[in-house]
Amino acid sequence: MARSAWGRSAMQLAAAPGQRTDGASAAIAPRQRLLFDFDWKFQFGHGADPARDLGLGSGQGDFAKTGDFKFAKAGFDDSKWRTLSLPHDWAVELPFVRDESLNSHGFKPLGRRYPETSVGWYRREFEIPASDLGRRITVEFDGAFRDVLVFVNGCFIGRNDHGYTPFRFDLTDFLAYGAKNYIVVRVDASFGDGWFYEGAGIYRHVWLTKTDALHLGQWESTVRTELKGNTATLTLGTVVENEGNQVENAKVSWRILDAAGKTVATAEAPGQSIPVDGKANFTATAKLTNPGLWSVDEPILYSAIVTVEAGRKIRDAERVSFGVRTAVFDADKGFFLNGKPLKIQGTCNHQDHAGVGAALPDRLQWFRLGVLRAMGSNAVRTSHNMPTPEWVEACDRMGMMMMCETRQMSSSPEGLAQLEAMVKRYRNSPSIILWSIGNEEWQLQNEMAEEGAKIAATMVRRCHELDPTRVVSAAVNGPNDKGVSDALDIIGFNYKLQYPDDFHKKNPQRPIYGSETASAVSTRGDYSTDKLRNTVSAYDVNNPGWGEQAEEWWKFYATREWAAGGFAWTGFDYRGEPTPYGWPSINSQFGIVDMCGFPKDTFYYYKAWWGKEPVLHLFPHWNFAGREGDEIPVWVHSNLDQVELLLNGKSLGSQKVPRLGHVEWKVKYESGVIAARGSKDGKVVLTEKRETTGAAVAIRLTADHMELNADGRDVAMVTVEALDKEGQTVPTASNLIGFKVAGEGVLLGVGNGDPNCQESDKEPKRSLFNGLAQLIVQSTRHAGEIHIEAAKEGSDGTELIPAKLVIVTRKVDLQPAVG
Ligand code: GAL
Repeated sequence: MARSAWGRSAMQLAAAPGQRTDGASAAIAPRQRLLFDFDWKFQFGHGADPARDLGLGSGQGDFAKTGDFKFAKAGFDDSKWRTLSLPHDWAVELPFVRDESLNSHGFKPLGRRYPETSVGWYRREFEIPASDLGRRITVEFDGAFRDVLVFVNGCFIGRNDHGYTPFRFDLTDFLAYGAKNYIVVRVDASFGDGWFYEGAGIYRHVWLTKTDALHLGQWESTVRTELKGNTATLTLGTVVENEGNQVENAKVSWRILDAAGKTVATAEAPGQSIPVDGKANFTATAKLTNPGLWSVDEPILYSAIVTVEAGRKIRDAERVSFGVRTAVFDADKGFFLNGKPLKIQGTCNHQDHAGVGAALPDRLQWFRLGVLRAMGSNAVRTSHNMPTPEWVEACDRMGMMMMCETRQMSSSPEGLAQLEAMVKRYRNSPSIILWSIGNEEWQLQNEMAEEGAKIAATMVRRCHELDPTRVVSAAVNGPNDKGVSDALDIIGFNYKLQYPDDFHKKNPQRPIYGSETASAVSTRGDYSTDKLRNTVSAYDVNNPGWGEQAEEWWKFYATREWAAGGFAWTGFDYRGEPTPYGWPSINSQFGIVDMCGFPKDTFYYYKAWWGKEPVLHLFPHWNFAGREGDEIPVWVHSNLDQVELLLNGKSLGSQKVPRLGHVEWKVKYESGVIAARGSKDGKVVLTEKRETTGAAVAIRLTADHMELNADGRDVAMVTVEALDKEGQTVPTASNLIGFKVAGEGVLLGVGNGDPNCQESDKEPKRSLFNGLAQLIVQSTRHAGEIHIEAAKEGSDGTELIPAKLVIVTRKVDLQPAVG
């Protein structure tokens, strides 16, 4: 996707990965937050055989004594283990296995019946300097899939057993200062959370945080903004904890910076005495006159630097970024951002991409949002789990609104802990316009409606306590007439367009939006529904019984003033749920774009009616050799007044474009050029053509950007195409292409968006699918050049001229990392 499509955000992007640390906040000296991603050792364990699981579980008393775990001590030999960097998803590296019970997770051998590939061990040596003595040192995991045991220096430290919530352990007492330390993490992906691909392993970042013993509480710093006229009142709050061995008299101050880094307000809270092992709340207010507002077109961000002082010394500090904006759902008029009506033009997405699975490099979050924004989308729903911090940060910085959803709808201690972590962590993010307490909980909507109402009420209350500024909803599939729905601030409908009108009539005071819509299915670049090939035509004509076509759902929500808009299922294709077919399909076909982010044709339906620019998109391609004389449906997605279609220069007539619709013709195929002319107010403003191409003769490589940060994290998304001798992309090419990546970069993964392709995501080769494939190339930590070569593999009697591409990596300030 062209960088320019992101406008201003592209510039912010250049500075983004590597500079921020925490999505919502960043460490400031004396606090240190070190990236703990590089140079881990990895090896598979075993879910059933202790002998192949570092001996764990071989007898009784596995956790009998503190300090006894030899694999987490010096002298343990991990030299045969593989070295890798996080984030890491081992599921995407596994072969596909034909087993119907693996259907929803993408046919990857995970689960209790696959003990050899369901447990992974990560091990790392790290140094702690003597000067750290007296500081609090915590290891923080942004998320791992799924059941985690952590050991440090021979001691069992703790566990975590759910796949999406961050967790952390204070290691202060267990560390050796001025010496080497050892951390071992056992990750067991035998149990799953969702009914979609979820990955396996430490698939998000890990951090080592060092603070003074007197420090800010985790995710306790809040900035709440209230806008009246041209003044924003900021209510500032935080918690200071004293883990030292003496009473401290602490005071807290805030400095508010605008986007350019200029101080625009300050505030201070009076000192308080905090006993040993105690904590205290601090609050203050500040005012901003004529603040820049955060919006989807101009996502202006401020930050608050929160500083704790005691004994005339700065003891801890962090930066929290926030925005000033109002977000209001109205039962009569839909959604308002900063007082202006705005339809939610959203998509639901899982965290999963070609080549990398659930372990997305930070830059890829930006790439994916860039694709969605390029079709005019202004919102995403994090179905069905708490998102990764970099996805939220990218939304804040790019101007994408978010419905942020927790995994488990439950008021059990576990369910509330997950919810609490999500709300606390992200409550300063202006992109989030509503919380979701869950998705399609059939039992709690129906058979257990009474309990459902109570469970939901407890969760909604908890959200309001932690964040009084946002409304709470859930994605409900049904009439929303009882159970969970009774407790919600605003009502989300999943599918079932027969319900919202009736609900609105009966409950005119309750705001409504489409929490999940569409589930329309299509295969990129394929124009026939063929059960033998597991393809679904790319015309917007196919949806499962429970879903709707793009045009259907959007017409519904776009034409009701009281409806706030909605979220299409899904923006991107994802592994698992291989609807509408099963094996050998390994991923869903619900996406508006494929697993790589290559647009399907429906992308342009949305772009026409969601975007602000004139759109004229003509399809299919015009390579139907052998089908001369057959009637081919030709569609145009456009927001212009009128479209004329021409075949080899001869007009096939003009049609008026219906509002929120499309135009189509049936055209007897003959090779040559099919063209569309779109006009507005009687003037032709856009033309588009599809030309019958010749055979593929050459490969072309194009990167989304040609310069990367030399930080070992940044990535370039490289598109691979085949061209005919006129230089036209051949839309049906399916050649197998091999890749070589040399110099200061590595090949992170490959993909082609084919829902039926079972080639490896990691090997340096990939077949083109309907003309396209994708490489994800990552920089090393040394500045230099990455040399990429692509050449045809195999001997099918054709030749393709190879392609080369050089990407430059430039030196940047590295994110402080554990050495
Ligand atoms: C919904 C569900 C999604 C996905 C979708 C497929 O009911 O919420 O997670 O399964 O169906 O159409």
